[in-house]
Amino acid sequence: MVGIVENQDQLGQIRNRIRSIQLVLENAGIEESATEAEWILSHAAGVRRSSIFSPIQMEKINWNVCDPVIENIIGRRVCREPLQRIFGSWDFYGYEFSVGSEVLIPRPETEGLVDLVSQWIREYGTSESRIYGVDWGTGSGCIAVTLSRIHNHLQMVAVDISEGAISVARENSRRHDVGKRIEFILSDGLSGISTSEEISFLVSNPPYISSGAIEGLDPEVRDYEPRLALDGGGDGMDAYRQIVKEIQTLEIRPKLIALEIGADQGESILAVLEPLKKYEIEVIRDIYGKNRYVMARSS
Ligand SMILES: C[S@@+](CC[C@H](N)C(=O)[O-])C[C@H]1O[C@@H](n2cnc3c(N)ncnc32)[C@H](O)[C@@H]1O
Repeated sequence: MVGIVENQDQLGQIRNRIRSIQLVLENAGIEESATEAEWILSHAAGVRRSSIFSPIQMEKINWNVCDPVIENIIGRRVCREPLQRIFGSWDFYGYEFSVGSEVLIPRPETEGLVDLVSQWIREYGTSESRIYGVDWGTGSGCIAVTLSRIHNHLQMVAVDISEGAISVARENSRRHDVGKRIEFILSDGLSGISTSEEISFLVSNPPYISSGAIEGLDPEVRDYEPRLALDGGGDGMDAYRQIVKEIQTLEIRPKLIALEIGADQGESILAVLEPLKKYEIEVIRDIYGKNRYVMARSS
């Protein structure tokens, strides 16, 4: 009987705290306030979000420790710092990635890009003993690390123009035990990598926001994501143009070029990829029905 009363008490405390966190977030104009309130409480309490109402987990919560942590998180979140950044890590494709201020927070859409490349590797990999992929603009390393986790015969080179990103990506590769199969290179595009080896595929989620649109983005993105990860130049297409130019200089071209694009870039990307004559090009929609990926395959 005593146990049940204590549980009810603890349950009430959790519900009240979630509700009050939610109200503060709502007042600050944060949309997913209910979900975020649960994330914040579970993070501060050190329990999984799915088990915050479990009696065993509830019993472990020490409010004297938890409450100041919640206060601190709320203080940062109402200034529109993204939760992922405050927590310092986030889930991508079921793997946890460190996300310091130097890297883009991995997005769920990019998991779709990993799926497409992964499917291609499965088909292509049956006839090839060695697959060598390049991740152009690796950021947190989420694409290169996840692909290397899924396919253990994969060798990758991951490039980024940001030193901070390279160091976060390297840390993530070690965390997921694929550090030996990914070479991280600080490089402007492919300029810093040896192109004597045949590249099987090139994958990239490059910066693709037009410079003029950045000011109008949500504060979470505008103020907290690295500019290098967002700014795709005047029309948002600079990085794609650079990639196309670089591919044209390769002696042997990759069999696959897989790109993430902005939802409104389906047509312009076809024009940018036009010089790549021998590729079959397909624009693919994401799970929300928006143009999001380009797969350019050569036989
Ligand atoms: C949109 S972020 C993507 C990061 C990560 N691949 C992801 O999907 O979450 C683009 C990345 O490209 C990098 N980048 C921008 N211009 C570059 C260039 N010229 N050469 C190499 N990397 C570049 C940025 O530093 C940033 O990390």
